[in-house]
Amino acid sequence: MDEIIEGISDESERPPIRPRISVIGTGYLGATHAAAMAELGFDVVGVDADPAKVALLQAGRLPFSEPGLDELVQTHLASGRLRFTTDLAEAVAVSDIHFVCVGTPQQSTSHAADLRFVEGAVAGIARALSHDGIVVGKSTVPVGTAARLRELLGALAPEGVSAELIWNPEFLREGKAVDDTLHPDRVVIGGASAEAEAVMREVYARPISEGAPFLSVDLPTAELVKVSANAFLATKISFINAIAELCTAAGADVGVLADAIGVDARIGRRFLDAGLGFGGGCLPKDIRALMHRAGELGAVDVVGLMQQVDEINMRQRQRVIQLAIDACGGSVLNARIGVLGAAFKPLTDDVRDSPALNVAAALHLQGAQVTVCDPEATEPGRRMFPTLTFAEDATEAVAGAHVVLLLTEWEQFLGLDPVDLARRVRARIIIDARNKLDTELWSAAGWTVIGLGTGVTPASADTSLLQLAGA
Ligand code: UGA
Repeated sequence: MDEIIEGISDESERPPIRPRISVIGTGYLGATHAAAMAELGFDVVGVDADPAKVALLQAGRLPFSEPGLDELVQTHLASGRLRFTTDLAEAVAVSDIHFVCVGTPQQSTSHAADLRFVEGAVAGIARALSHDGIVVGKSTVPVGTAARLRELLGALAPEGVSAELIWNPEFLREGKAVDDTLHPDRVVIGGASAEAEAVMREVYARPISEGAPFLSVDLPTAELVKVSANAFLATKISFINAIAELCTAAGADVGVLADAIGVDARIGRRFLDAGLGFGGGCLPKDIRALMHRAGELGAVDVVGLMQQVDEINMRQRQRVIQLAIDACGGSVLNARIGVLGAAFKPLTDDVRDSPALNVAAALHLQGAQVTVCDPEATEPGRRMFPTLTFAEDATEAVAGAHVVLLLTEWEQFLGLDPVDLARRVRARIIIDARNKLDTELWSAAGWTVIGLGTGVTPASADTSLLQLAGA
């Protein structure tokens, strides 16, 4: 009897009813967010229009590679807190918070973001609302989008149903998505009423308790925080790449320089790795969308700055192509080139706007016999560039090569044995386009290591090796 009385306990001590969550879009962002929300204790339904993707996720498998995410999805499919469906209306009907995590790719005909998917998701949620709820945008959008979506939601939501639209940008990195989502640097909420803010504080109670700052800002500021963060990161990379060019001309070493300026806490060492530059599904399209939107709003300085950042970044790809041509004695026609890396960065199989594949494809177009390998991105790479040859591993990719290109700095490549590889190539020249190789170790094995901004260029390299390369 006592136990029963204890169990009934005072109303105020009962745990509050937790909001139920739908997550619309199950790409890198949405699948990770859905699994992370389940990990934080919520009941979550992930929604995607693609039945094949939903079937994979519902079977505990991912349509892409992201470390640790498959385990998290499997754990919460099993815990019963996570499921996936193609039925948006059903998911909305059983949820109170609706996270919009669909893509905002670059339009094919301009620099602007393609907002069709975000608009479609918000319209779909609005039409399906059967009870009050909060629509939370997480996708990266041009400033001003959320205000328009708010109007759309208001216009389409059924009479008598109250729905609020707020923005909660995401800062996760591919390859570290699970950790970034569960332990964010900050939580930014835009345009929330007091009630919606309280709900968001509950959703993010664990990260907040771990010390993540919770920033409640207005709608346009929230949208711009995200884009500005990516624009700043892109600027940092292009800055160091511009300095790398100067280092090459002056015979200085950009890596040592980055270490030296990076110890200044105002500058910071991260995102100062000179090399082939940035790619992927976020930074390039985000700076272009920012350029476009800033132009519409008359903020010309942002347009000019982002244009420069983009141009410097794209020139790095050209620079590496030219280094390869120089290393082969002025032409890559019929040269064998071994390429290490296809993904836009390590720990992902994402090849969207991959600098590595761009370089490989450009050299192939100039008549080189290019063989690419990548620990994860072979299949996506082959789908994007079917005319390139893909090898199982690095030793196969470099066999008989006149020059080897390290384009994505996977640990597997940094750990390769230069002595063993030296026996497989025609000439021991490696272009380290990420400045990540242990140059002493490789040089000791007879390799000429050509970096970007590290002082070693094909012109300063041992000419006997270059003649061999041209052989
Ligand atoms: C980026 C941001 O880092 C995330 O904070 C953001 O949430 C995400 O975009 C997004 O908008 O969704 P991601 O695209 O996963 O994340 O990749 P990053 O880790 O930022 O790397 C971008 C590119 O910059 C890669 O190609 C990488 O090789 C290159 N990079 C990075 C450099 O060339 N040098 C560096 O020092 C650092």
